[in-house]
Amino acid sequence: MIEFKGIKKAFGPKVVLDGVDLVVQTGEVLFIIGASGAGKSVTVKHLIGLLRPDAGRILLDGVDITDYTEAQYFEVRKRCAMVFQNSTLFDSMTLLDNVALPIRKHRKVSLKEARRLAMEKLALVGMTAEAERYPADFGDGMRKKVAIARALTLDPDYVIFDEPTTGVDPISAAMIDKMMRRLSDEQNVTCIVISHDLRSIFGIADRVVMLYKGTTLFDGTREELRACPNGIVQQFINGEPEGPMDV
Ligand SMILES: Nc1ncnc2c1ncn2[C@@H]1O[C@H](COP(=O)(O)OP(=O)(O)O)[C@@H](O)[C@H]1O
Ligand SMILES: [Mg+2]
Repeated sequence: MIEFKGIKKAFGPKVVLDGVDLVVQTGEVLFIIGASGAGKSVTVKHLIGLLRPDAGRILLDGVDITDYTEAQYFEVRKRCAMVFQNSTLFDSMTLLDNVALPIRKHRKVSLKEARRLAMEKLALVGMTAEAERYPADFGDGMRKKVAIARALTLDPDYVIFDEPTTGVDPISAAMIDKMMRRLSDEQNVTCIVISHDLRSIFGIADRVVMLYKGTTLFDGTREELRACPNGIVQQFINGEPEGPMDV
């Protein structure tokens, strides 16, 4: 379980998070939604120590990690892997070696064993046939899938997906959704997904949290989201240009 308690974060005069309370239950697929610039990426970066809060506490499985050192966050990042919005692969390495890289870095295994483990992760995203090819041969959707496979290499308990289906073709997007759902259902991996993709949200979310003006405006199931009477929530989920939302 992950708990964000009253997280505040400002950059200079700009207050981005103004007391975010958020609980992520073990094994669930939690979506964090909200307008562009609402602070979704900023929120999750606090979990892995890429940003430090001005106030508030962050607990990982009951342990307060807020004041961890960089060395301690290094360990946290093995348990909580993040797939960044702009996934970066090394162009000079095959897809397989890109995925094998963290295994080589963190585990004392032979190159052959690292590649075998990497192949297992590529299988999870349906990319084994392309393993020996290079990133330049592929579009955003395929590259994103490889970045996801790489995030899974150290068998994390939590995976943060920052806009995994944005800019991805519909078929790859559907595969990514299915894979996140399976990670949760079959391997009890907790998935924290930042997205505005309504099809993903209503397709696979166990729970949805909406950030607005630095706090959590909504927290509930997707059915509750659909039925939520709040005008700002409705404007967002219906993608309406006009409404009460102050963007
Ligand atoms: N390192 C940073 N320095 C200054 N401002 C930042 C930094 N990171 C994010 N911001 C600002 O914080 C706000 C929220 O950003 P972000 O969390 O990336 O939004 P989103 O909800 O789209 O993921 C934006 O206005 C952004 O410009
Ligand atoms: Mg973002």
